[in-house]
Amino acid sequence: MKSIGVFDSGVGGLTVAKELIRQLPNENIVYFGDTARVPYGIKSRETVIRFSIENILFLLKQDVKLICVACNTASSFALPVIKNHFRVPIVGVITPGVREAVYASKNKRIGVIGTKGTIKSRTYETEIKQLDPKVKVTAAACPLFVPFVEEGWLKGEVVLSVVKTYLKPLRQAGVDTVILGCTHYPLLAPVIQEVLGKDITLIDSAKQVAFEVKKILASEDMLQRSKGGKHRFYVSDNPEWFSSLAERFMGRQLKDVRKVENV
Ligand code: DGL
Repeated sequence: MKSIGVFDSGVGGLTVAKELIRQLPNENIVYFGDTARVPYGIKSRETVIRFSIENILFLLKQDVKLICVACNTASSFALPVIKNHFRVPIVGVITPGVREAVYASKNKRIGVIGTKGTIKSRTYETEIKQLDPKVKVTAAACPLFVPFVEEGWLKGEVVLSVVKTYLKPLRQAGVDTVILGCTHYPLLAPVIQEVLGKDITLIDSAKQVAFEVKKILASEDMLQRSKGGKHRFYVSDNPEWFSSLAERFMGRQLKDVRKVENV
């Protein structure tokens, strides 16, 4: 029985895995977190492309029928280049989030937040403009958000002040919709919402990504019919660290996380 492969730079992609499991409970899932080389958000385009290809090759060895790139930085830098070079469909997190944001925005002003790499790539902006050239995009890198989330700092004075500083350009631009363009940011959604105000729509693409995966599998007649999918988790380093953070990202503990020696 073939699986859905998912990779991320580390633990953040579990937000996407969680949604895949919820929407596709019968599917087997193989998750790979590249914890030896995280973070991707500050690495160069060439490096992120190389890591992404290596991660995909690892997943292909696990007999996958589709690969989901849960990492926004990898989706931004690598997906446009590598998407059509493999024998399985590859789904990233950018396009589903863009579609939802363009649909949600009434005033055609959309904010995008992400890692330095994601923002530098301008992939979100390019895809938004392709869908609706009239939309004005304001993008901001928020490099401190990932360590905050991994340290469990999801609220409090320091977090609030940093969120205010990073989001100032978005507030000034009058955006009505903001794409949470990083695996970790949905965990900071309450404080982001507090800073931007309750009328602003926050887009967390995980749900749309899982929906897209389901659509592709259905259209190719590849959906699993027998009940009870199995889930395997691999990392390139530090399985204990990964397990300890998994609960925050997935809402449940992961016991059997395996370390891969050579990706
Ligand atoms: N997974 C990354 C992303 O969504 C965040 C963590 C990192 O920088 O590797 O962009």
